Amino acid sequence: MNARKIIIDTDPGQDDAVAILLALASPEEIEVLGITAVAGNVPLSLTAKNARIVCELAGKTDVPVYAGCDAPLSRKLVTAEHVHGKTGLDGPDLPDPTMPLTHGHAVDFIIDTLREQDAGTVTLCPLGPLTNIATAFQKAPDIVSRVQEIVLMGGAYFEVGNITPTAEFNIYVDPEAADIVFKSGVDIVVMPLDVTHKALVTKTRNDAFRALGNQAGVAVAQMTDFFERFDKEKYGSEGAPLHDPCVTAYLIRPDLFQGRHVNVEIETASELTMGMTVADWWGVTNRTPNTTFIGSLDADGFFALLTERLARL
Ligand code: RIB
Ligand code: CA
Repeated sequence: MNARKIIIDTDPGQDDAVAILLALASPEEIEVLGITAVAGNVPLSLTAKNARIVCELAGKTDVPVYAGCDAPLSRKLVTAEHVHGKTGLDGPDLPDPTMPLTHGHAVDFIIDTLREQDAGTVTLCPLGPLTNIATAFQKAPDIVSRVQEIVLMGGAYFEVGNITPTAEFNIYVDPEAADIVFKSGVDIVVMPLDVTHKALVTKTRNDAFRALGNQAGVAVAQMTDFFERFDKEKYGSEGAPLHDPCVTAYLIRPDLFQGRHVNVEIETASELTMGMTVADWWGVTNRTPNTTFIGSLDADGFFALLTERLARL
């Protein structure tokens, strides 16, 4: 089977880091054409730096990393240092990157890549706010039909919000961008909190990462040691939810995930519910289904895959 060509759009973030490591450890299934950083968990200068730190942690410094949008389309940037720490990668003590950013804007890289690669052969994997993706679609509408699929982490329905009572962080930060993407007509697979809150790094699972003994395994264990405190305190959960790695795991083992093809629209008017992903889970409207909204996963299978792949780095 040919490896799937992807662009990872990301705001690292400990969970983004794990998603990127999983992708870079899986060359048979995934060819990472490039990584595009966006402002989200922390400001762009840090997400662009952290993306390179993760590439170096994986020993894959040939992957081009581009800096993208430093603010949402029209709203003020909201960040999440309260979850990820002031660096965005708090936990392990990782060295500053030596690999440079690749020259050029992330949005232009997305546009150029979709124009250069055969139509229908590039998957976009957004792990943060959708600002870069929406900006690319606005700047070059011709690329929209060339996208194979979008597999993104964002949104919530039964699980409700994590940054407001109704909204998940990635969508909340740039709801206008999310609205553009969800209305684009591209096939979208959504990994909402409904599934990512079932991908919890319990102590046993984190001990397995640490026991790998390699740099990546130990760093991931240290990242989740830090990252889990927010969710454990708020939800009383057993460990950190690995939100973003659900995206790259889906590309490798889609059979680990279950969902439903439904319509999802984004709240962009009411401040009370701003950024809510309104999923018509029970089909009570005549709105056209536009996403595969994932609700559950085989968590043991997910962690077995992740642990096996981290061992390769
Ligand atoms: O709500 C969780 C999402 O917001 C994850 O992608 C996390 O990295 C943050 O970006
Ligand atoms: Ca993220």
